[in-house]
Amino acid sequence: MSSITQTIVEKLLVKSQHRVKTYGEVFTPRSMVEQMLDLVREELETSPNFVDKTFFEPAAGDGNFLVAILRRKLRAVEKNYSHDEWLTASLFALASIYGIELLEDNLSDAQEAMLTEFSQFHEEHGVPCGPRSSLHQAAVFLINTNIVHGNTLTGLTLQGEEIQLSWWNRVVAAPGMVQREPFTLASLRDDGFDFTIYDRYRACGIDEVHEEARADA
Ligand SMILES: C[S@@+](CC[C@H](N)C(=O)[O-])C[C@H]1O[C@@H](n2cnc3c(N)ncnc32)[C@H](O)[C@@H]1O
Repeated sequence: MSSITQTIVEKLLVKSQHRVKTYGEVFTPRSMVEQMLDLVREELETSPNFVDKTFFEPAAGDGNFLVAILRRKLRAVEKNYSHDEWLTASLFALASIYGIELLEDNLSDAQEAMLTEFSQFHEEHGVPCGPRSSLHQAAVFLINTNIVHGNTLTGLTLQGEEIQLSWWNRVVAAPGMVQREPFTLASLRDDGFDFTIYDRYRACGIDEVHEEARADA
């Protein structure tokens, strides 16, 4: 690699020396991301329930791992599911991918990149995914609920509240339906999930999650 090329590559991986020092912000190159994901190819792409296998990125950066995980899951959905199952399977794939990021600009880059990857997949297959479609709205909701702003080390948001995430449990007897169960990040480190402190939701279609129907409404 010439020194000019090397400088360009380093610039892409590092935004500023201040951010490297303060936040440890150095992005992993795409080739290395792919090599690392090859190590979990079975969970991501070939195991019987690969769609639902959970991935969590505690330092999400601009979403390079998250997007590569989604891309692989969507390719595997395309290969293993019939066309009429892609919508539901792609949303469940999105629901299985989590991230936390400290810096607001990185967080919004990560969320945007996930939405672009998801929308492109559907648009390439002729499925409308415009902002008014329920597919788009559910995808935005899942991305914004699963990939959140906060400090993974403390388990707190920048406002000092507990970071909240949600499980998206499939309703076994009703394919395509999901039961949302919020929990705190901190509870993962304690005695197990604490599902008690947040709103409870009604089971709904995975493409209706953005309506946030409460169980007690
Ligand atoms: C080394 S970069 C890695 C980004 C991405 N995971 C990658 O491999 O390309 C670290 C990222 O973690 C974020 N970060 C640093 N401390 C964090 C914390 N306590 N909680 C959440 N994110 C944090 C930084 O803002 C930065 O975007």
